[in-house]
Order: sequence, then C-alpha cells, then structure tokens
Amino acid sequence: MKYSQLTFDDPNNKEIPAHLRRDQIISKLKENFDFESTHLRSSTSSTEGVLSKCHGYEAPNQAKDLGIYPYFREIEAMDGAHVTIGGREVITVSTNNYLDLTHNPRVIEAAKQALEKFGTGCTGSRFLNGTLSLHKQLESDLSHFLKREDTIVMSTGYQANQGTIACLLGRKDIAFSDRENHASIYEGCAVAAGKTVRYRHNDMDHLEYCLKKYPGVEGKMIITDSVFSMSGDIANLPGIVKLARDYKATVLVDEAHGLGVIGEGGRGVTSYYHLEKEVDIYVGTFSKSMGSIGGFVSAHPRVTEYIRHKASAFIFTAALPPASVAGVNAALNLMIEEPERIQRLHDNTTYMKKGLFDMKFQINNNPIPIIPIKIGDEALTLYFNQLLFDNGVFAGVAVSPVVPPFNAMIRTSYTSAHTQADMDHVLNTFKTIGTELGIIPQ
Ligand SMILES: Cc1ncc(COP(=O)(O)O)c(C=O)c1O
Repeated sequence: MKYSQLTFDDPNNKEIPAHLRRDQIISKLKENFDFESTHLRSSTSSTEGVLSKCHGYEAPNQAKDLGIYPYFREIEAMDGAHVTIGGREVITVSTNNYLDLTHNPRVIEAAKQALEKFGTGCTGSRFLNGTLSLHKQLESDLSHFLKREDTIVMSTGYQANQGTIACLLGRKDIAFSDRENHASIYEGCAVAAGKTVRYRHNDMDHLEYCLKKYPGVEGKMIITDSVFSMSGDIANLPGIVKLARDYKATVLVDEAHGLGVIGEGGRGVTSYYHLEKEVDIYVGTFSKSMGSIGGFVSAHPRVTEYIRHKASAFIFTAALPPASVAGVNAALNLMIEEPERIQRLHDNTTYMKKGLFDMKFQINNNPIPIIPIKIGDEALTLYFNQLLFDNGVFAGVAVSPVVPPFNAMIRTSYTSAHTQADMDHVLNTFKTIGTELGIIPQ
C-alpha cells in the first residue's frame, strides 16, 4: 500500500472527527510499517554474525514501500530558502544556512580565488603540511571577533568536539554532559579515557547532584550545547557557570547553533548571557550560520596549544580545503558588516513561532530559529512530513534514536532568506495538514 491510498476520501467529512481519522491512519500505516520492531529492536534476521543486523533491518525499506521515506532526497538546485527536488521547487524549512551566506556572491568569489590560488585541497593534515596562511588568517579573525585568545580551525564541528573532548578528558577526569548534547560530544566522551556522567537535559538540580557525587575528583568538565540542535532549547548557561564555579569544573560550550544566531553581533549564547570569561572552551562550526563546512575551538593559548598537538581528530585528518576556509572568512566578515541578516532571521523566527503557536502546535518559546513540531508516533510523523513535501514544504524529521522513542517530530529551521510569501505558504500548509490529521484543533 502507498501512503497516498491512506489519504482521506473527503477531508471535509466532519462526520468522522479528525482525531479518529488520525487513529485510522496510524493503524493502517502500522500494518505496513513496523518501526518499533524493525528499527528499535535488535535484528530478527536468520543470518548469523556481525552483518545479521543489516539483513534484518527493514524500517527504511518499509518506509520506502509506503512512500513516506524522508531521507537522502536528491537536491538538484538550491538557493537560500528553496530547493529543487524531482524537478519541483519547494520551500525548505530544513536548513542550517541561517544567515543566507551559502550562495552569497562575495563568499563564492572569495572561495573561487582561494581555489585558483591554492587548488582543491591542502595535500595533508594541518599538523604536518596542510596549514595555509588562510587557516591562520581565519583563526586570527575568529579570535578577534569572539574576543578569545586563540583559535584552532578544524575540518568539521564534529571533529572539533570529538577531538577536543577526547584529548582533554584524562583517565582520572569526569565529563558532566547534558543528555541532549550533540552526537559528536557523546562520541568525544566515549573515546576519552575519563568517565562520563550524563545529567538530565538542562536540569541544574540534577547536574549539581551528579557533581556532588564526586568530591574527590579534581578534573571535572561540564559540557553543553549552547543551543540544542533538536529541541532548539537554550542551555541554562548561568546555572552551569555557577555550578562550575562552586565545584571547580571547566566549562566547554558547543556554540554550533548559537554562533550567528544569538548574542551580541551573533557571538552566541555565551555572549547573550555575558559569560565570555566563564566559558573556558568555545567550540563552533562553519556548517550553520557560516554557510560552509568546518569547525573550530577557541580557548586560552595553553589549552589550544595542547589540543593542537594531541587531538587525533585534528592531527590525523586532512585540513579544511582552501575554498572552504576563504568562504568562511568572507562569511564571517559579511555577518559583521551586515547585522541586518541576524535581525531578519529573528523577525522570521518570531513570525513563524507566533503563527504555529496560534494554530496550537506545541512549540518552543525562545528566539532560536529551530522549531520542532512534536507529533509523537513515528509513522504518523513520516506521513505528515510526506504530505508537507507534496504540498511544497521540505522539512526535516527526527525519530528515535535521535529523539526518545514515540517522541518523533517534524524539525523545522528558518533562515533570513525566507520571504513573507514563503512563510505564509509554510504556515498554511501546516494548518491544513495539522487539522486534517487531528494534530491541531479545527
Ligand atoms: C550542536 C551541534 N554540534 C556540532 C555539530 C557538528 O557540526 P559539523 O556539521 O560542523 O560537523 C552539529 C551539526 O549537526 C550540531 O548540531
């Protein structure tokens, strides 16, 4: 059965209440899409050995057969707010290009010039032979912008987190990590020699309870995303900093979704709360507001010098290529010169949040341009997402294990490039589908 066969014969038929129609749809979907047993539980394959899990993994195929598979859509063209998929242009609300810098002519020109001057790659790792004058310039500009003493540019934000945490967290040290932190933080903690304690999301009482349990441990590091990538929540940085002071812990903040979005001139949550001096390690990425790829870590020069010589994820990987470095530097300068981009992003965020809130969708209430829309059931979420796509809206989905089971959501994010017409189309589409499926009242 295809999902299109599940659509209602007559969505205006008021005789069947929307929530009952939604229940019918869920049960029909579940006849053909057993997410729980094929994705969440271990394999039922008859094959033995390491690969048995692959042979028994049916969730993607089931979703494809139903026509509700949302991943790896092939994008043929894009600008700031639109993508072309299957020859059809749709509005994207699944973008990290918050400030519309990915396609900016100045950014592209800077990348082109670096490409022509230095070629397509750095021929090696930063450590041995891949450090260009461009990397040093970007490091210096970032340090200056963030008012931090030193910065290391790495190949991705993932590696910046993973490499930094893995090399700093020694055998006798403990990381206290928010349960909603990004996968790269989990990974850094997992490969580090030290122990990791996960505290409940943004729960300062629980963080304190965890810190108290290890009075004899001298090396403590509290690690948090500044803006959580799925929920869009802002970290309680004042609470974290206070506990770090009380329990003598180091603070590492991942500003992946804070940089370019919030704080003075887009300097992140650290700046929003005026805690620049209290945050010991500032990690960031170039794959969101900076419109490209790459990551960085900023800290005291004694710390960066250690990371430079010890972090495997930095030393044993190729350097960020010239075009990306130059593009990021141009993007950083544009962000500084054109603060109206951040203002537009905020205005768009406010408009979308108000629109969705007025329709009674359950959404977060803060100035972050990530708006998750909670649906719950996995199959229904994929179905909702497919209907959005059919109606010209390309959104993201988050299902387990990215979020806890049965907390599936449509994940939307916005950019300064969205026009009023784009946003109105998105809101109208959410309203129609949300009402049809009984997720919001009529
Ligand atoms: C919170 C957070 N940290 C780190 C990263 C990794 O960044 P990058 O894309 O540069 O590897 C991401 C990207 O998804 C993220 O959302």
